[in-house]
Amino acid sequence: MPQLYLGLMSGTSIDGVDAALVDFSDSHPRLLDCQTFPFPSSLSDELHQLSAPSENEIELMGRADRAVAEVFAEASLQLLKDNYVRPDQIKAIGSHGQTIRHIPFGEHSFSLQIGDPNTLATLTGIDVIADFRRKDIALGGQGAPLVPAFHKAVFADPTKSRVVINIGGIANITYLPKRDSDDIIGYDTGPGNTLLDAWCKLHTGQNYDEKGQWAAQRSADPELLQLLCGHPYFSAPAPKSTGREQFNLPWLEQNLGSMTRHIDPQVVQATLVMLTTYTIAKQVLQFKDVEQVYICGGGARNEFLVEELESELHECELFTTDELGVEADAVEAMAFAWLAYAHVNNIRGSVASVTGATKGAVLGTFCPGRE
Ligand SMILES: Nc1ncnc2c1ncn2[C@@H]1O[C@H](COP(=O)(O)OP(=O)(O)O)[C@@H](O)[C@H]1O
Ligand SMILES: [Mg+2]
Repeated sequence: MPQLYLGLMSGTSIDGVDAALVDFSDSHPRLLDCQTFPFPSSLSDELHQLSAPSENEIELMGRADRAVAEVFAEASLQLLKDNYVRPDQIKAIGSHGQTIRHIPFGEHSFSLQIGDPNTLATLTGIDVIADFRRKDIALGGQGAPLVPAFHKAVFADPTKSRVVINIGGIANITYLPKRDSDDIIGYDTGPGNTLLDAWCKLHTGQNYDEKGQWAAQRSADPELLQLLCGHPYFSAPAPKSTGREQFNLPWLEQNLGSMTRHIDPQVVQATLVMLTTYTIAKQVLQFKDVEQVYICGGGARNEFLVEELESELHECELFTTDELGVEADAVEAMAFAWLAYAHVNNIRGSVASVTGATKGAVLGTFCPGRE
């Protein structure tokens, strides 16, 4: 009997929602399908606006909360239709929600995701597990990253130490030592695609730099790279997580403004690629026994970025997770299907050594969808 779950992930890139259909009936979860459903551009604009302080935030957030849930519901139902699966065959949906603020430090730290799970459950008729980060934060953790437990469940190897690199809007790594007894390590390394996308949009009008072709025509500016690498996040110890609150266009422009010469926009783009790859590689290389590195997330489709990463990590074998049977774009959505499965089966979804919480916990809030 198949045990089907849906996973929904819309990350910091705000490009849309990835929806994955996963079967957990076997010891190894099987990805049956994954598709991306873009946000309508007006909703995407609103979500970008909500990601930074602005006017009338509460009302805007309340409305976007329901609008996002409608997109999630349409995505879920379309994915099921395409796979000839009925809603009553799905055990539960794991819905991450759209992060509009992630402030994991200071008093009353918090992480806020929207996409009302009650609306999603009502529109689909499927039980929904959502709000995965808050239990971990209540336990003193950062609430992020949450994918490492899933990476361990599906990508760990008993004979080879591996690192999984997820390059979404923000990039995160998971170190999976070959010996099962060792604690896994995982944290956000800093910007993945978020600055690349923002700068590309500003100068070319395109949402992202297809395959990194625009950046690939120029070389990075070493002085600007050094300046950007001076952000205190990069040298802070783990556990740590970050978001658009720290890495955004105003931060980049402030750094450009402090330089005494003008830098060509394409050179800036090439420098941002180096910022992403250098800050990831520096963290990966500190794990001395790593033999294999697997990339996932939309950044794995940026060929220039992958080439640069390959040259920084020349000591290791570099693959995309496609080689392990999970296409790079589907990993995070599949992880949230797994977190729903973990909730239903009382399995801990967080790892204390990763998030800094006092202990790992069963994550998520349950919203019934069946009549
Ligand atoms: N063909 C491509 N060429 C270059 N970059 C790409 C390509 N496909 C996806 N990306 C990058 O991946 C991003 C989406 O990655 P994703 O893993 O969905 O991030 P998030 O989880 O933050 O939404 C896009 O915004 C873009 O920067
Ligand atoms: Mg995305």
